[in-house]
Formats: sequence, C-alpha cells, structure tokens
Amino acid sequence: METRQALLTRRSVRKYKSEPIPEADLVEILEAACHAPSAINLQHWYFAAVTSPEGMAALREIMGRVTEKFHPVLTDRFAKHPETVRQTESFLTSLGGAPVCVLAFFLKESYPDRDGAMQSVSAAIENLLLAAWEKGIGSCWMSAPQRMGFGEELRARFAPDKGEFVAAITLGYPDEAPKMPPRREGRWAIV
Ligand SMILES: Cc1cc2nc3c(=O)[nH]c(=O)nc-3n(C[C@H](O)[C@H](O)[C@H](O)COP(=O)(O)O)c2cc1C
Repeated sequence: METRQALLTRRSVRKYKSEPIPEADLVEILEAACHAPSAINLQHWYFAAVTSPEGMAALREIMGRVTEKFHPVLTDRFAKHPETVRQTESFLTSLGGAPVCVLAFFLKESYPDRDGAMQSVSAAIENLLLAAWEKGIGSCWMSAPQRMGFGEELRARFAPDKGEFVAAITLGYPDEAPKMPPRREGRWAIV
C-alpha cells in the first residue's frame, strides 16, 4: 500500500474481529512507530502493547470507569447524535473486541519541553496507525483515559518505571468499514 493511499483510507475502527495479530507484525508496527521524528531527537516515547487476556480484561475494567466519567463530554459534543454517543461508549467499554491495545507513555518521568515530548509521541502514534493499516490492521487512537485522569492508574499497572501516559490505541482486524467523517474546508493555506 502506498503512503498516500494508507493515509487517505485509514479510519478509526471501533469494532474488531477476535483474530490475533501475529507477533512479528506487532513488532514491525511498534518499530515503525519508533521511526517517527522527535524534538531534538529525544525519542520520548514508550509503548506497552497489551495482548494477554488478563491485561486486556484489566484495561476494559479501567475503560468502563473512563466511559462513565466521559459521558457528559460525549453527550455535549454529540448532542444531536445520541447514536454516536451510544456507539462510542460501547466501544470504549469493550474496546470493540480488539485483541491488542497499545498504551503510549513518555519514556521518562519528565521533560523540560513537555509540549515537544507530546508532539513527538503523537507523531509516533500516527506512524503506528499507518504502519498497522498498511497490514490491514485497524486502529483507534483514544485520549479519553488521559483526559479523564486515568493516566496514573494505567502507568502504575502497565509501565510503572516510565513517564506520563499519553494515549491508548486499539489494534485488530476490522469488523466494520467506517465511512470517512467529512473533512472540513478552510483548514490550510499556502502563504
Ligand atoms: C488525539 C486523538 C484522540 C482521540 N480520542 C478518541 C477517543 O477517546 N475515543 C474515540 O472513540 N475516538 C478517539 N479519537 C478518534 C477520532 O474520533 C477520529 O480520529 C475522528 O473522528 C476522525 O475519524 P477518522 O480517524 O476515521 O478519520 C481520537 C483521535 C485523536 C487524534
């Protein structure tokens, strides 16, 4: 798959087949994430790929509590689309049946340039999504657990010697083909 095709056809997938991801593919995806650019080349990222049934069950339990707290945010954002609220909540609590969830952290406890670290980890996450999609593996980037204040609990459980939690990313073979949310006008200019 060409880069352009991958980045235009990638979608956030919220329903997955239970089929596991071959470990060699998961390794290639994580390696691709780590090839992202980073501010002053600090490579600020650390990824914990949760694959075990116990790890995934613990994650779903935490995500159930994230979803409860996230409810007012979703109902406010999608006030005219209650079905979107229902679908998103169902996804967050079940992780859509994904066999893998990658947790992204800062490698270190703190960085003087936290914004730079956040941009670097975000670049690595996008690499991860595209590298997965190139293999036909769908994904969904989730900031809800960080936004709702569950980062410390996730760090303590899955990466106790690493830094701040950034985001969670489900991975799995898609069991749905989501439509592209329309892209809005006026989001770039050549100046
Ligand atoms: C930083 C970030 C945080 C996101 N957080 C969530 C989330 O918590 N839950 C969720 O269901 N989707 C989340 N998404 C996915 C977006 O909803 C999705 O990217 C957007 O609707 C556009 O759809 P597309 O990815 O198919 O292009 C997040 C995406 C980004 C980039």
